[in-house]
This record gives sequence, C-alpha cells and structure tokens, in this order.
Amino acid sequence: MTAIENVTVIGLGTLGSQIAMQAAAYGHRVTAFDPNPDAFAQARGKVRSAMQMVGKGPTYPIERWDDIAAQVRLAPDLAGAAQNADLVIEVVAENVELKRKVFAELDRAAPPGALLATNSSSIPVSRIESATQRPQLCLNLHFYQPAVGIPMADIMGGTRTAPETIAAARDFLHSIQCVPLPVRKEILGFCFNNVWRAVKRQTLYMWAGGFVDFRDIDRAWMVFTGMTYGPFFLMDLVGLDVVLAIETVYFAESDDPKDAPPQALKDKVAKGELGIKSGRGFYSYPDPECARPGFLQGR
Ligand SMILES: NC(=O)c1ccc[n+]([C@@H]2O[C@H](COP(=O)([O-])OP(=O)(O)OC[C@H]3O[C@@H](n4cnc5c(N)ncnc54)[C@H](O)[C@@H]3O)[C@@H](O)[C@H]2O)c1
Repeated sequence: MTAIENVTVIGLGTLGSQIAMQAAAYGHRVTAFDPNPDAFAQARGKVRSAMQMVGKGPTYPIERWDDIAAQVRLAPDLAGAAQNADLVIEVVAENVELKRKVFAELDRAAPPGALLATNSSSIPVSRIESATQRPQLCLNLHFYQPAVGIPMADIMGGTRTAPETIAAARDFLHSIQCVPLPVRKEILGFCFNNVWRAVKRQTLYMWAGGFVDFRDIDRAWMVFTGMTYGPFFLMDLVGLDVVLAIETVYFAESDDPKDAPPQALKDKVAKGELGIKSGRGFYSYPDPECARPGFLQGR
C-alpha cells in the first residue's frame, strides 16, 4: 500500500476543520467539502478562541495558523473532493444513516485503493462498511477534541479491515504528529474515550445529584492532573448536545440505568445551553470562570 499523501476531509465542523488543519500542517495535500460554505471559517474561529481559553495551542507555531488554513483546498462537492484521495476522513454529524450515505457516495467517487475512515465517536465502522464495495479499506479513525492540541487518535477496524489498512492509518497518524491508539477488538468508546466516558458519567452524576459544585470537580482535576482545564470545561468545549447524544448511545447499548444521562443535562440542552458554541454551558463564554486568575486556588 502506498503512503498517504492526498487527504480528503468530508465535513468541516468542530472536528473536521481541525483534522484538515492538522494534516495540512504536516505537508499533506488536503481537499475538503462541506455543504455549508462558511463552515470552515466559522469552526476555525471557534477552535482558535477555545485554544486561547485553555492556553493549549496547536502542535505547530500558532503563527502558521492562517497559512495552513489557506492550504486546505475547498471542493464544490463531495465527488470533487474525493477524486484524488489516498485517505478520506468522514466527519459529518453523528448519524449512522447519514454516514452510510456519505460512505456509499465516497465509494463511487474515490479511487479504488483509497481508505475510507469515519471520525465517529460512537458508531463502529462495522455498521457502515457494508454501504461500500471496499470493507477491507474501511476503518474508524477517531480524533479527540481539541484535535489540534491533543495529538492522538484511535484506530479500529471493522469486520473485514485489512492489516495493511491499519498499518497505513498508523503511518499517517505518525506523519501528522498524532499518537496512534490501535484498538484490537471492537469496543464502543475505543481506547481513551472509554476512560473519558467513565470520568464524564461520574462527574455528571455528582453534579446532577447536587453532591459537589462542578467548579470544585474541575479544580480537583486540574490540580491532580496538571491540566489547564477540567471535565466540565471539556464538556462545554465538546458541546453538551454532543455529550448528551453520546451518553444516550452508551445507555442504549448497555441498558444499565446507571448509564442513563441525568435529567439535569437534558434540561440544559433543552434550554439551549450547549457550551461554548451557544455562549453558555456549565460556564459562561467568552470569559469562563475557570480561565480567570485565582480559579485554581478556589478564590
Ligand atoms: N465534537 C467533538 O468533540 C467530537 C470529538 C470526536 C469525534 N467527533 C465526531 O465527529 C463527527 C462530527 O462532529 P462535529 O462535532 O465536528 O460536528 P459539527 O456539527 O461541528 O460538524 C459537522 C459538519 O458536517 C457538515 N455536513 C453535514 N452533512 C454533510 C455532508 N453530507 N457532506 C459533508 N459535510 C456535511 C455540516 O455542515 C457540519 O459543518 C461526529 O461523528 C462526532 O461523533 C466529535
């Protein structure tokens, strides 16, 4: 299998914009498509201010940010974006039917040897691969938010993914300064999302039950891990609607009442408190309390 040079990104929202930037920053030819022509610029603006809030920059000098963005070629449609791809990364909304439709279109448009990856947080590629004639080239390639500042990604195959596909994905991740996290056996949540998920479930339970103020959980996390932000800020960054959707998928999978997303989280989402993107989540933006001096000391 030849090395991956041409990368196509389908969907330029929160994650897709960052994946396109990361690949372009390390010399790949990146072509992208989003039906919303403003998506890339809007998402980049939000990512940049989120990076400033948490004091965590990209893995390359921030001065290169605009030049790198200019290197991402925007195609007018999906077929045009995929026609020369070695690897396509699908980053559209978390909906299995939409992803299957996009994979079927990509299968027709991309060169026969191109890898087709999904960045889905909760849908294994085994539920998408049959929409294509190339299951051996399909895989999960899951980046973390903020993808420009947390350089790691899960790799997981489907029922017929070839070992060469996994190896090529590993090499690609190394080439963009990302640590590959291979998953040996299909599991919901991949490698690290499973760990993050346990933290999320427990911290949401403590907040929703009124046991501890969420700010103190973030403080404790920051002191203990040395990170510049805690789980509640991270949920605001991801989007509380996205968090709720993912928790709902886990609950549907396990049917364990302990996995049910708390009502208080549903209420927040229903009120439009979606995190950074809506100006309010657990914290208020653009000046969240957790980024102010003295927060860590509990003053
Ligand atoms: N937000 C996160 O923290 C996060 C983290 C890891 C993985 N993911 C996964 O990444 C995927 C995208 O999430 P997001 O948060 O970036 O969503 P988002 O809503 O920010 O972006 C989705 C983008 O897809 C575009 N789109 C919709 N239909 C399309 C189509 N047919 N072709 C091309 N583009 C299309 C939309 O216009 C939008 O810009 C999901 O599968 C999600 O599970 C998200």
